[in-house]
Amino acid sequence: MPVRIALIGTGSVGKGVLEVLSRKNTGIILTGVADSRSGLMDPGGIPVSSLLDRKKKTGLCGERSISALKVVTEGEYDILVEASPTDAVTGEPATGYIRAALSRGSHVVTSNKGPVALHYRELSNLARENGVSFRFEATVAGAIPILHTLLDSLGGNEIHALYGVLNGTCNYILTRMAEEGLSYRQALDEARALGYAEADPTYDVKGIDAAVKLVILANTVWKKEITLDTIDITGIDLLTEEAIRLAEEQDATIRLIGEIVPAENLYRLSPRIIPKHHPLVVQGSLNAIIVRTDLAGDLIFAGKGAGSLETASAIIGDILSIRERYAGGN
Ligand code: HSE
Repeated sequence: MPVRIALIGTGSVGKGVLEVLSRKNTGIILTGVADSRSGLMDPGGIPVSSLLDRKKKTGLCGERSISALKVVTEGEYDILVEASPTDAVTGEPATGYIRAALSRGSHVVTSNKGPVALHYRELSNLARENGVSFRFEATVAGAIPILHTLLDSLGGNEIHALYGVLNGTCNYILTRMAEEGLSYRQALDEARALGYAEADPTYDVKGIDAAVKLVILANTVWKKEITLDTIDITGIDLLTEEAIRLAEEQDATIRLIGEIVPAENLYRLSPRIIPKHHPLVVQGSLNAIIVRTDLAGDLIFAGKGAGSLETASAIIGDILSIRERYAGGN
């Protein structure tokens, strides 16, 4: 059964979604699209390859007279895919788009961390009241299906603790500095060029992005109501090349580690010196997560935590799972 989507945001993540639609026969039809300066709506389906060409040539995905809000409120679609850049302070304009879509009875899939970290409870209640789904697998750890795993597959467990490398950009920078002797600035520029970094990369290096992911995990998996202020945050922006070299001399390295131990009220993100053979020492843009549970014991997950197609993988999974769930009109 075909499913119609409207896509907001055509940056690294949005382009990844469009790439998948142009390469694979997913049964997903694009009926609306918008970037920050233009939009396009066509209930019959927008040809994705020519859209990608136009975006590449002109920088616009559609007409300047059509705004993202217009696409959200007037477009004909089943699922809104919100993939605009995260604003961790206001959550806007994405939260407004998501509210509008849920209120009109459309499902929402998002990779945008701001609305989930700031308004998870409100938005999930709004989805429930309107009989639709609100899904956000792409907000945490890119391609690793960690939210689905914790919320569904491990639903019978008590999750005692979670430790993880949750920012691909920082992990890429730390890896390149340690292994290739790159300067912090060179490594950051590479991470940006590869599409790993946020639109504002200070979010990555100051630890905000990973801390927002900890907020999302705490509030969705443990049903807490914490905010960014709850997290004790230290980024990698002040880390010296000397510190990395000293760690390497001890057969160790530095990784930016997030920790959630609810029983101890511990919510922390900080650079840590860890032995090189530790499972959280992953390379490049990879993320890694260890969860400690009562029934399943310890589990380790690793995979690409950032990147265009990798994040699109999580978004497409959410879209197809909604289609599956509501097949038959229930
Ligand atoms: N900028 C983020 C990262 C993207 O580097 O992990 C994925 O959330």
